[in-house]
Amino acid sequence: MPTTDKILVIGSSGQLGTELVQNLRSVYGLENVIASDIKMTDQAKEGLFEVVDVLNAAGLLEVIKKHGVTQVYLLAALLSATAEKNPKFAWDLNMNGLLNVLDLAKEKIIQKIYWPSSIAVFGPNTPKQNTPQFTIMEPSTVYGISKQAGERWCEYYFNKYAVDVRSLRYPGLIGWKSAPGGGTTDYAVHIFHEALKSGSYECFLSENSTLPMMYMPDAIKATIGIMQADADKIKIRSSYNLAGFSFSPKEIAHEIRNHIPDFTITYKPDSRQQIADSWPQSIDASRAGQDWGWKPEFDLAGMTADMIRNLKGKKS
Ligand code: SER
Repeated sequence: MPTTDKILVIGSSGQLGTELVQNLRSVYGLENVIASDIKMTDQAKEGLFEVVDVLNAAGLLEVIKKHGVTQVYLLAALLSATAEKNPKFAWDLNMNGLLNVLDLAKEKIIQKIYWPSSIAVFGPNTPKQNTPQFTIMEPSTVYGISKQAGERWCEYYFNKYAVDVRSLRYPGLIGWKSAPGGGTTDYAVHIFHEALKSGSYECFLSENSTLPMMYMPDAIKATIGIMQADADKIKIRSSYNLAGFSFSPKEIAHEIRNHIPDFTITYKPDSRQQIADSWPQSIDASRAGQDWGWKPEFDLAGMTADMIRNLKGKKS
């Protein structure tokens, strides 16, 4: 596809970034996608790469100018569990990183921003089932507080400075190509690796901890989808609810047993249990459907079969 877009992905070696960069490169062309992270990674071998610290505004501007960047996907952040261990740094990174990028768009140096929000914006007083787009939020984790404040800043920059920023509230993301890091929903990826490696898994959440989740191909489709939608279709400039399917550790273990009959699971909840208990169990994503045509493809059974097939292939 011929394009004048030059895309910078910040935080490109994380769970989402790894897959997003591959997809963006195939959609926009190798020469139009710059991966970047705080450290050099193997992504540098596959295409353009820059070492970028999003908290260093001058360094970021230099990279943006060097490549004539028009769009930024800002993925660098501390996730829920890691952020609880270092709240002040999490706030600094998650908030000031976003403000640095929003300011580049305010100054018209870049044209478009993608910034992920999360189900963590919701809290214990939020309705847990089919959580509405607009509802009580009151997040109780530093990650959730930073994502909710970030949503407010995104909407503010859109209203006040016409900044074209787009955002999705991701549920837990599950993929086989990259490892998650520091999240409460990470168990849903680890469980597959352990099922194939040792046939058993000790889960850090309790058996009935139902959470909203999504398979990575759907998350990538939603991300590129919202960024490619016409600007007038994006009616919500804070962040859109997004949903795939929901399950508990017990339910995913049951599904895995359809492929690995002897698989066993035990439960040893840790501090992440409290985080999981504060989040919704299912999400109403109807506004994303209505406004820009979002529709997920994968359910629990489809995701599980695809994960196991791909992870088996990766090992052999
Ligand atoms: N998957 C994330 C986490 O668990 C939620 O956005 O932190």
